[in-house]
Amino acid sequence: MNFENVLIELNDSLATVIINRPKKLNALNRATIKDLSKAFKTLNKDKTIRAIILTGSGEKAFVAGADISEFANYSVKEGKELAANGQKSLFDLIENLGTPVIAAINGFALGGGLELAMSCHFRIASNNAKMGLPEVSLGVIPGYGGTQRLPQLIGKGMALELIMTAGMINAEKALSYGLVNYVVPQEELLSLCTKMASKITNNSPVAISYAIKAVNAGFKNNAKGFETEINAFGSCFGTADFKEGTTAFIEKRKADFPGT
Ligand code: COA
Repeated sequence: MNFENVLIELNDSLATVIINRPKKLNALNRATIKDLSKAFKTLNKDKTIRAIILTGSGEKAFVAGADISEFANYSVKEGKELAANGQKSLFDLIENLGTPVIAAINGFALGGGLELAMSCHFRIASNNAKMGLPEVSLGVIPGYGGTQRLPQLIGKGMALELIMTAGMINAEKALSYGLVNYVVPQEELLSLCTKMASKITNNSPVAISYAIKAVNAGFKNNAKGFETEINAFGSCFGTADFKEGTTAFIEKRKADFPGT
């Protein structure tokens, strides 16, 4: 498998998927989402692959968010499609994959990056990791399932605090919230993920895929929540706040929101 923005390393029954745009802190543009979607679909079909680790290349970022420069000029319709297509082709795909996926959060996991990590079956972070959903600082909301999966993982109050403040939390805090399962020094991150993966691969892959299905089924009554997120995300693209937020990011200045 050859991709422009994604590397895949295979080692017996374990595949490591590496998002590879380090100069842009692995920001998720449409091409990367497409590559990741293809990679996960292909790996899931390969019955010799029993576990997948997802990580970012470089030492600084897992994924610093959706690619802001790509969507800054989108219309409401394009914004809505961006969220709907991304959710369907990648985030829902990973969450419902029969093969277990561990996110190895090796640095910034912001916006779409944290949403991607939250789609994985569980998360392990390096001690330099920083996590958050800063979308409202850009005049938009999380659109890749963040408004649904963050409260599932850490509870409604903490999730709303994190979303509304656009704040970033460090790895230790993420551990205390239950957002990540373990925190280790960066040089030990992949070895711990590999160790966890090998514990998983000793067990029945069929039973594991059923367990994933059963656990996910308990959260399926929030389909309306995902739909509401997509519509609200799209609506943001018609606001003056969104224009100001994304322009300010690109111009590397603080946003001054008009509130319309
Ligand atoms: N979309 C597009 N480009 C991004 C990006 C994103 N989400 N995050 C980082 N980049 C780019 C930067 O524009 C910069 O590109 P340049 O070198 O061509 O100017 C490069 O990645 C390096 O980022 P930089 O901001 O210089 O690194 P930093 O160490 O000063 O700051 C962050 C790191 C993560 C705090 C900062 O990049 C950031 O705030 N990113 C956006 C986070 C965000 O709002 N994500 C949610 C999007 S919905």
